[in-house]
Amino acid sequence: MKSFYITTAIDYVNGSPHLGHAYEKVLTDVIARFRRMMGDQVHFLTGVDEHGQKVQQSAKKKGIPPQQFADEVSEEFRALLPKLNISNDDFIRTTEERHKRVVRGVLQQLFDKGEIYKAEYQGFYSTRQEQFLQEKDRLPDGSWPEIFGEVTEITESNYFFKLQQYQAWLVEFLTTHEDFIFPRYRQKQVLEFLKEPLNDLCISRPRERLEWGITLPFDDGYVTYVWFDALLNYYSAVADKPGLWPATYHVIGKDILLPPHSVYWPIMLHAAGLPLPGGIIAHGWWMQSGSKMSKSTGNALNPLDLVTEFGVDAFRYFLIREMNVGQDSDFTREQFLVRYNSELANNFGNLVNRTLNMANRFAGGVIPAAEVAEDAEKELRALWETTRAEVIPLCEGFQFHTALEKTMFFITATNAYIEKRAPWKLGKSAEAHDQALLRTSVATMSEALRLGTALLTAVMPGTVGKINAVLGYTPGTVWQNELAWDGRLTGLKVAEALVLFPRPEKPAAKK
Ligand code: MSP
Repeated sequence: MKSFYITTAIDYVNGSPHLGHAYEKVLTDVIARFRRMMGDQVHFLTGVDEHGQKVQQSAKKKGIPPQQFADEVSEEFRALLPKLNISNDDFIRTTEERHKRVVRGVLQQLFDKGEIYKAEYQGFYSTRQEQFLQEKDRLPDGSWPEIFGEVTEITESNYFFKLQQYQAWLVEFLTTHEDFIFPRYRQKQVLEFLKEPLNDLCISRPRERLEWGITLPFDDGYVTYVWFDALLNYYSAVADKPGLWPATYHVIGKDILLPPHSVYWPIMLHAAGLPLPGGIIAHGWWMQSGSKMSKSTGNALNPLDLVTEFGVDAFRYFLIREMNVGQDSDFTREQFLVRYNSELANNFGNLVNRTLNMANRFAGGVIPAAEVAEDAEKELRALWETTRAEVIPLCEGFQFHTALEKTMFFITATNAYIEKRAPWKLGKSAEAHDQALLRTSVATMSEALRLGTALLTAVMPGTVGKINAVLGYTPGTVWQNELAWDGRLTGLKVAEALVLFPRPEKPAAKK
């Protein structure tokens, strides 16, 4: 079996999880589930980033020690995962000993090799971004952009990692590995960024300024810069699990591609003599009214509210259907309701209801065999073959939104097939051919429902399980074998009814 190790970014625990964090978990989960379905041996890691100034400050504001604060918020992030039906195999916290041990080991190794040196540094420091700024970061009027928050000038001795000496190597690597970053145009942006000389990376913070971090193994007057610590989680979580490193993909948001994931991380690994990951998937942002959803802007949505109101699978469906991986998407309740009503309730849910209803009304609740194949049956079956052939490569290329669109198109076509056959009319005829068509129509809609449902497995695992259960069907272990149109439901006893996507309780309130 092919090993497939996938990670998400680890979230800062300075505030509660929002829809943006939830999206990244769901997207990574869909990829992980899809790869498992394709037969890979998947290892899926997610977790939290607990050190650094932001967490120290948030804890201080609450008047509790940073560890206690991190414990509380980390629990919120961890508890969200089962509610989103995330199939992660591991959850890492950067305050865990297994992580700290690896970070210290890598730092010591790099220090011993002469990759880390101490120097005096004077510069402008952004607490919010936890980084030193450069002159080129200033706005034309000399002020600092809003995203940096408060900026102060400081002089201090620090430890630096020799990033610059690897610049040429990184350019060469990215030029020869065109598919390292998805989407591809982001890789071009990174190469563009690398046209300017890199500065060495300051990887320490004096203890007087920041206490909440991993102490440098070679100087206990300093703690490790939070990014140097955090990036290593991908490795520390599997360092003692043979065969897992390197990761196949890191899934992250576009804001943390440059420079942490596309510059620091590959160079850190290379300098430490570790293999590089297979690739980085940089998704876009969920926006609200044109600005990025975030804690600091105060426009963050709590994912659990939507899960409670509409169910976890409708939530997962919306995120994956709406977002083209890599681009931004505006989140509106109206759009959520449109997809919920028209695609899930009226299209997919309706097909489930009709199929159960017809099977019970016209076939005694037992799925009959198809007896004839006229144009309507042939057309639907041909559409299935195209859909099936298109969907797998789309998922392999992270085009899940289009894969769902094609799947829904097939579901729509199945509903149209039912309209065309109109079993409720055939049921009134005593003619043998009409009766054969009636049985065929029930067999055909059931088979099409089973197949369309199979394509939704990675996105709506709970719903798929429920549908198979009402069809009396237990899928086999090899997912791709499920995709054959072969009438395997014949003779199964179906349930009476299944409510999947109930109408929202109240009329939609504008949020
Ligand atoms: N702790 C760092 C990541 C370290 S990875 C070694 C961090 N944390 S974060 O909590 O700010 O963000 C975590 C992830 O959520 C990032 O990948 C980020 O892009 C993503 N999102 C945060 N807000 C988002 C949206 N509004 N939309 C989509 N994802 C965004 O950065």
